[in-house]
Amino acid sequence: GLWVRNLRLKRRLPGPFAWPVVGNAMQLGQMPHITFSKLAKKYGNVYQIRLGCSDIVVLNGDRAIREALIKHSTEFAGRPNFVSFQMVSGGRSLTFTNYSKQWKAHRKISHSSLIAFSSGNSQTKKVFEQQITAEATGLVQIFLRLSTDGRCFNPAPEFTVVAANIMCALCFGRRYEHEDKEFRSMLTKLDKFGETVGAGSLVDVMPWLQSFPNPVRSVYENFKNLNEEFFTFVKDKVVQHRESFEPDVTRDMTDAIINKIEHSQDSGLTKEFVEATVTDLIGAGQDTISTAMQWIMLLLAKYPDVQTKLQEVMDKVVGRDRLPSIDDRNSLGHLDAFIYETMRFISFVPLTIPHSTTADVTIEGLHIPKDTVVFINQWSVNHDTLKWKDPHIFDPTRFLDENGGLDKDKTAGVMIFSTGKRRCIGNQIAMVEVFLFTAILLHQCRFEGNPSEPLTLDCSYGLTLKPLRCSVSATLRGKLLGLVP
Ligand code: HEM
Repeated sequence: GLWVRNLRLKRRLPGPFAWPVVGNAMQLGQMPHITFSKLAKKYGNVYQIRLGCSDIVVLNGDRAIREALIKHSTEFAGRPNFVSFQMVSGGRSLTFTNYSKQWKAHRKISHSSLIAFSSGNSQTKKVFEQQITAEATGLVQIFLRLSTDGRCFNPAPEFTVVAANIMCALCFGRRYEHEDKEFRSMLTKLDKFGETVGAGSLVDVMPWLQSFPNPVRSVYENFKNLNEEFFTFVKDKVVQHRESFEPDVTRDMTDAIINKIEHSQDSGLTKEFVEATVTDLIGAGQDTISTAMQWIMLLLAKYPDVQTKLQEVMDKVVGRDRLPSIDDRNSLGHLDAFIYETMRFISFVPLTIPHSTTADVTIEGLHIPKDTVVFINQWSVNHDTLKWKDPHIFDPTRFLDENGGLDKDKTAGVMIFSTGKRRCIGNQIAMVEVFLFTAILLHQCRFEGNPSEPLTLDCSYGLTLKPLRCSVSATLRGKLLGLVP
C-alpha cells in the first residue's frame, strides 16, 4: 500500500507531450490563457508544460490557485531568475526579484509608502483625488476636441499619458502635457514592456534564439533599451529630490521613500533601491491603468444600454451641477459593478507575472519541486464555471444585490490583482483611479462606437491584453464642469 502510494506521489505531473528543443512553445497560440484553460479540461487544473529549456507548472481554476497562493503562500512567492527580469529597474526591481529577506523589506517599505499616500484621512489622499479629477477633466476636453464634427478617435494614447501623469504626480509632484513629445515617445516604447515579461513570452526560456539575428533578438534588445531609458528618466528625478531633500518636508512619494530607505536605521536597502522602487511603481501603475481605461471605453461604447443605466444612476446620485467624487462611491454601486465586470470578463491581466516555487510543495495531491516556474491563470478563475453563472456573458448586474448595492462577496471572487504574498500593492490606488476616471468621463460625456468600424474584443497578448482597435466618439452631456474647489 505505502509503496504504491509513494510511487503515485512521485509520478510526473500530467501535461501534454513536450517536443525536443521547443517543448510546447508552438502550441501556445495567440492567446496562451485560453490555450491553458483548454489544456486544464484535458489534464486537470495543475499540469506541466515545457517551454524551451524550462519545465513550467500551470495553475488553473479558483480552487487550485487559491490553495497555492493563499494556503501555500510562501512556497509560491518566488520569481524565476529570467534574464529579462534582471533588466528591470536597474536590476533592483521589487516586482521581478525572487523571494528573499531583502525582497520582504523592500516590499514592506514600498507598500507602506503607498498606503500612507492613498488611504485613511490623509491630506495626501485628498491631493491624489484632486489630481485624478484634474487629469480626468482635461481628458474630457481633449476627447471632445478629438470628436469635433462627429469624428472618431482612439483613446489609447491619451489614457497612456493620464495614467503616467497620475503616477508622476504621486511620485514627483509634477505632470506632463499631452503634447510633450519626449514623454509620449518614452511611453510609447514602454507600451511594449509587457510583451517580454508576460507569461508565455519566449525570450527567457529559449535563450539560444538570441544568438541568431531574428525577431526575438530585437524584442530582447528593445526591452533592454526601454528599461534603461525609463530607469534613467526616473533616476534623474530621484537625484533632484535627493539634492533638495529636507527630512521634515515630505513633498511626494519619492521623498517618503528616500526617507524610509536612506534616513531610517537599518532599512536593509542601499540608496539605489529608491530609484528602483519609484521606477517599479510608475511602471506598474501606468500600463495597467491605461489598459483598464481602454477596455472600459470600449465596453461602454459596445453596450450602450449599460452606459445609459450608469448615467441615469449618476444623474440621480450626483446631479448635473457638480462632478462626481470618491465620496459618491458608496452610492454608485452600479459603477463599481461595471468596473468589476470589466475586470472579470476581459481579465486584461490574464496571467500574473510568472512565479516560482521557493520550496518543494504539493498542490491538489501533485508534487512540485523547488525552483519550478509557475504560471497562474487569472483568466481561468474569472471564467470558472464552478464559480460564475454564464461567465462568457458580460453582465455587470451579477455583482449587485436585490437593493442595487454592491455584493462584496462576489466582487472579492474576481481575480485580477492576484492574491497571496505577491499580490498587487497598488490595488486600492488602482480602484480609486479607475472609479474616478470612469465616473467623470461618464458624467460629462456620452460615448459611441465608430459605425464604420464594429467594436470587437480582439486584442494583443502580453502581461496585459490590449484592444487591437478601439474607435469611439464623445459628445458633451449638458454643461462642461471644471475642478470643484
Ligand atoms: C503586481 C495587477 C495597478 C503596483 C501586480 C500583479 C498583478 C497586478 C496581476 C502580479 C501579481 C503576481 O505576480 O502574483 C494590477 C492591475 C492594476 C494594477 C490589474 C490596475 C488595474 C497597480 C498600481 C500600482 C501597482 C497602480 C502602484 C501604484 C504593483 C507592484 C507589483 C504589482 C509593485 C509587484 C508586487 C510583487 O512582486 O511583490 N499587479 N496592478 N499595480 N503591482 Fe499591480
